[in-house]
Amino acid sequence: MDQAVGLRGLVKGGQNGPGLIGLSDKFLTKNEVYNRSLRIISVTSGKGGVGKTSVTVNLALALRYMKKRVLILDADLGLANMDVMLGLNPKYTISHVLRGEKRLRDIMISAPGGIKLLPAASGIQELTDLDGSQRLLLLNELDMIQDMFDVFLIDTGAGISSNVMYFNFAAMEKVVIVTNEPTSLTDAYALIKVLTHKYHQKKYKVLVNAVRNASEAERIFRNLTLVAEFFTGVIPMLCYILFQDSWCRHFKVSREQLKSYFDQAMEMTHEAYHRTMREQWSGEESR
Ligand SMILES: Nc1ncnc2c1ncn2[C@@H]1O[C@H](COP(=O)(O)OP(=O)(O)OP(=O)(O)O)[C@@H](O)[C@H]1O
Ligand SMILES: [Mg+2]
Repeated sequence: MDQAVGLRGLVKGGQNGPGLIGLSDKFLTKNEVYNRSLRIISVTSGKGGVGKTSVTVNLALALRYMKKRVLILDADLGLANMDVMLGLNPKYTISHVLRGEKRLRDIMISAPGGIKLLPAASGIQELTDLDGSQRLLLLNELDMIQDMFDVFLIDTGAGISSNVMYFNFAAMEKVVIVTNEPTSLTDAYALIKVLTHKYHQKKYKVLVNAVRNASEAERIFRNLTLVAEFFTGVIPMLCYILFQDSWCRHFKVSREQLKSYFDQAMEMTHEAYHRTMREQWSGEESR
């Protein structure tokens, strides 16, 4: 496939598509537009605070462990906190790119563990709802750096705002996070419903976070999929993650401690993530 087609192919539908980036049936399908080796995975949720950012970081670490070149896109554009969680203090953010002051490759920073991050700004209201030209600009910029990476991980932010829809639409694989809170299930259901009905997305995987054991994860997963599968078809469980006190504390420590945590994590922690990414990478189809 012509590499130059890349992500730009997604915008070929012009302004007439589903109001996101304009992909329409008569243009390229997603399978055709992406660089063959690049995987774009969104980490998303209906409800906030369920662990998207934590999961994104840990998936990124697991992928780094497999020697994959990983870029995290903090797509919670107006309320970003990925940089804080990673102990970074970026000078430039995606808002500089959207204002035309910087290129995407100029704002990319190195995070612990060999992960690259595209940081977003916090507290900038106008970024919570990108317009069509901003979306095009972002896609063109992403297209230009896609050869540098094996995977883009997108932390989408929560809810069913147009930005969340847009970034989920751009991803080939959507990891929907739920927890044992009832609203996390109802909100995940709403997210999947809108993405399916309005944006014709079909492929989701569920990650059940912060549970006490496998049967709790299974119960939560069933509660969601029993309803959601009526309109999407089968939704598999990606994995579940146990509630880990010590893990969340790691994100509230100093930069040095964080670095050492990441070094350790590269060695052996988070078996669930490592196993998941190994299976996902070498197993079934990926897109
Ligand atoms: N498996 C887990 N065990 C224990 N604590 C967790 C777990 N996953 C996430 N947390 C904690 O839950 C809190 C919320 O996590 P996080 O910020 O990753 O959620 P989020 O979905 O990105 O939130 P937001 O929607 O606000 O962006 C954090 O304090 C995090 O450390
Ligand atoms: Mg977050």
